[in-house]
Amino acid sequence: MAAGGGLRFLLVALRFLLVALHMAAASAALPLVVNTWAFGKATETAWRVLQMGGSELDAVEKGCAQCEMDQCDGSVGYGGSPDESGETTLDAMIMDGNTMEVGAVADLRRVKNAIGVARKVIEHTKHTLLVGESASLFAVRMGFPYEDLTTPKSLSMFSEWLNQSCQPNYWKNVVPDSSKSCGPYKKTEKVICKEDWISSQRRISVHNHDTIGMIVIGESGTIASGTSTNGAIHKIPGRVGDSPIAGAGAYADSTAGGAAATGDGDIMMRFLPSYQAVEYMRMGTDPTVACQKVISRIRKYAPKFFGAVICANTTGSYGAACNKTPGFTQFHFMVYNPSLSQPSEQVVDCI
Ligand SMILES: *[C@@H]1O[C@H](CO)[C@@H](O)[C@H](O)[C@H]1NC(C)=O
Ligand SMILES: *[C@@H]1O[C@H](CO)[C@@H](O)[C@H](O)[C@H]1NC(C)=O
Repeated sequence: MAAGGGLRFLLVALRFLLVALHMAAASAALPLVVNTWAFGKATETAWRVLQMGGSELDAVEKGCAQCEMDQCDGSVGYGGSPDESGETTLDAMIMDGNTMEVGAVADLRRVKNAIGVARKVIEHTKHTLLVGESASLFAVRMGFPYEDLTTPKSLSMFSEWLNQSCQPNYWKNVVPDSSKSCGPYKKTEKVICKEDWISSQRRISVHNHDTIGMIVIGESGTIASGTSTNGAIHKIPGRVGDSPIAGAGAYADSTAGGAAATGDGDIMMRFLPSYQAVEYMRMGTDPTVACQKVISRIRKYAPKFFGAVICANTTGSYGAACNKTPGFTQFHFMVYNPSLSQPSEQVVDCI
């Protein structure tokens, strides 16, 4: 009897908890901060910026910069994802959903605060995207310190990769065989045109391919979004992924919604998933469904791609979706709005 009573109590308590969780997930309120992965300090920083009267752009910038300083998962900021030459390079963007202005940097070298530099592209230039060493020169001119992004950790990741015959890497149709040896490579005479990205599992996992993507919606409905990442580990120097590309890594339109993506940028950027998700929300699609629809569309071509998208509409409803693969079945993201007393980690089952 006592055991039955205990069980019933447990079930009631459990149901209560589920309802509470569901309500937390469902309640829409402004202002809102949503970001990819369990990067809670970034969420908290963005929220604090809003509370202190900062703008939505300030919140996105400082939130993502928090991750750059904390080297979130080693996939944002300095000291992570060394490229084929051992260097860490950064990509970031920030977008103002009121004016549709975008500032972005790609292949940024020797400057830590990539999203800070992206913000300066909006504020001090008429351009949208600056790249490579020239972006670094711009950053220095804007007052950012020029420093080495290599750390003992990134150096050891690099030497380990060299020691395992440069595996994995991103080359194809080259000699020597890139699946067995290091370069330098030359192109083969015969090129296999049918791309194998459709079916190949490229040994890219959750652990070497994260990005912070963030959406902030202010009380007035102003939407801003942004991203920051150190890109794909062992990338070919010069490679730029989805993160600094408007509509791919993130998008914001205060009349429709905001979205941000994370995952295999080489594939995802071909579909402009953040732009597409915002357009679905403009047509009234629920944010979770909007996220799911863009994941499904990519999956038609790349069934095994690694990726997730977060979405929020103008009234503060939000959602997320991810592509289910053997190594990736759930996606964690962070939310903060007035119905929560602290950054809330939420989980979505991949589809
Ligand atoms: C390289 O790998 C071998 C085993 O494959 C290991 O014995 C050796 O210690 C490694 N060297 C370095 C420098 O990591
Ligand atoms: C945002 O999404 C919620 C949930 O689907 C929906 O009830 C609400 O009407 C949407 N807001 C707008 C402006 O479309």
